[in-house]
Amino acid sequence: MSQTDKAAMELFENYQEYLALQHLYQAALKQLQIKFEVLNDEFHVRSGRSPIHHIEGRLKSTASIAAKLQNRNFEISLDSAKQNLNDIAGIRVVCSYVSDVYDVAEMLLRQSDIRLIKTQDYIKHPNYNGYRSLHLDIQLPIYLSDHTEFVNVEVQLRTIAMDFWASLEHDLRYKSQKDIPARISREMLQASESIAQVDRQMEQIYREIQQLPDKETDMI
Ligand code: GTP
Ligand code: MG
Repeated sequence: MSQTDKAAMELFENYQEYLALQHLYQAALKQLQIKFEVLNDEFHVRSGRSPIHHIEGRLKSTASIAAKLQNRNFEISLDSAKQNLNDIAGIRVVCSYVSDVYDVAEMLLRQSDIRLIKTQDYIKHPNYNGYRSLHLDIQLPIYLSDHTEFVNVEVQLRTIAMDFWASLEHDLRYKSQKDIPARISREMLQASESIAQVDRQMEQIYREIQQLPDKETDMI
């Protein structure tokens, strides 16, 4: 059994507590999903289009929780995971345009029950490899039967184009057991820049179309 497997087993020591933790983070994901859906629907009612293309949520697997705690030299326990990891629950909000990413983020952060812990803007400052997304580490209250818990969630907001690049890059990097030569890394970076250019172009087209007069329709 590997060190990580042993560490993962330790998280299960008190199974009841483990289930409670899972329930808590699952509840936070549900709550956020609803918040984003409500915002998206209202935006649609007001302007006839949806800023959010789709939403994905995931709970970090026990093995990944254990591995991350181990790598960062934190104690391996459920309490330690709760305290030290901000991405046990993660939600990805994939938007149409770059401006939608910032608008949706602002709409969420305006809500009085949402606490912002940390922002990482990989759109304004892309990662070394070309990764682009807006990350918000937030806390939201979950109302339980006899107390309220503030639960950490990592929210990743990005455009469809950024999501396309990030998904493929993730697969290429993790599924490949090979050393990636510098030339290929440069090509990945160039692809990310091309995608950012297309994002700007699509938003420009959208704005131009918005300015056009309505089609003349036959009056009946
Ligand atoms: P945490 O405190 O654990 O969030 O560490 P961090 O803030 O240094 O991590 P960061 O927020 O940069 O990254 C967290 C998540 O973003 C990852 O689990 C991925 O889902 C995504 N991510 C970050 N960098 C990359 C990248 O280069 N490529 C891809 N595909 N995804 C990335
Ligand atoms: Mg982060």
